[in-house]
Amino acid sequence: MLAPSDVPPLRSGRHLPLRGRILGSATVPEDHHPPLRTFGRIKSRPIKARQAALLETLLPQIRPPAGPFDPRALMPGAAEVWLEVGFGGGEHMAAQAALRPDVLVIGAEPFLNGVASGLRHIDEAGLANVRVHDGDARELMARLPDASLDRAFILFPDPWPKTRHHKRRIVQADTVADLARLLKPGATLRFASDVAHYVDWSLEAFSANPDFAWTAQAAADWRNPPADHVTTRYEEKRLGDCAPVFLDFVRN
Ligand SMILES: C[S@@+](CC[C@H](N)C(=O)[O-])C[C@H]1O[C@@H](n2cnc3c(N)ncnc32)[C@H](O)[C@@H]1O
Repeated sequence: MLAPSDVPPLRSGRHLPLRGRILGSATVPEDHHPPLRTFGRIKSRPIKARQAALLETLLPQIRPPAGPFDPRALMPGAAEVWLEVGFGGGEHMAAQAALRPDVLVIGAEPFLNGVASGLRHIDEAGLANVRVHDGDARELMARLPDASLDRAFILFPDPWPKTRHHKRRIVQADTVADLARLLKPGATLRFASDVAHYVDWSLEAFSANPDFAWTAQAAADWRNPPADHVTTRYEEKRLGDCAPVFLDFVRN
């Protein structure tokens, strides 16, 4: 369990969870081309016929265009543009999109069974404000213009618990820098995990980038699910080693 009371405060006076177990700075080797894979399997069990049909019919309609594009052009008049990195089965993505039909929600997920599940949620809810990138979020992000996002989510990312695999975590200094490039000033980013080491890792990585500020004022801000949080499938599995932690950052 997290024990913020017995760890030293940050300079700001806030407590960094499990600071004593924090890693060094999150760095990526310069010669990593193509980027290290941050996800596991891209397909597991057979995909049900209905979802397979949606991969054929719905996905091509809501897949962002190839090459660089401005997301605002995908839904003219959208109040905001949000990005979810690694939407898994798509429950959170679809629920947030249903709550905010005025917002364009772009989800990225390379796991085909997850994409198929996400399409089912989009189809069942009749959502017109979701676009799905069936691949690596970093590849999608590279095609987006500066300051084109109002919000981003990284929820319960693959923990890659072994030390030699930490470099495969999606939260790395370069991903954080990419997100800083994409988020508008004042935009927000939510990271959540139930893996204590990954919480520390991410807090360190985002805190190391001056473009981000952690918004927490008290332990309750990271211990309790934020009011607008929608429980995710992985969150429900409780596979981690601590209670879910929610880190909300603002883009300076
Ligand atoms: C542990 S699952 C959590 C899924 C979902 N966010 C949830 O909480 O239920 C992490 C997901 O991130 C996806 N993922 C990993 N690396 C990714 C990347 N580079 N771009 C997009 N998705 C990625 C994986 O395929 C996996 O579905």
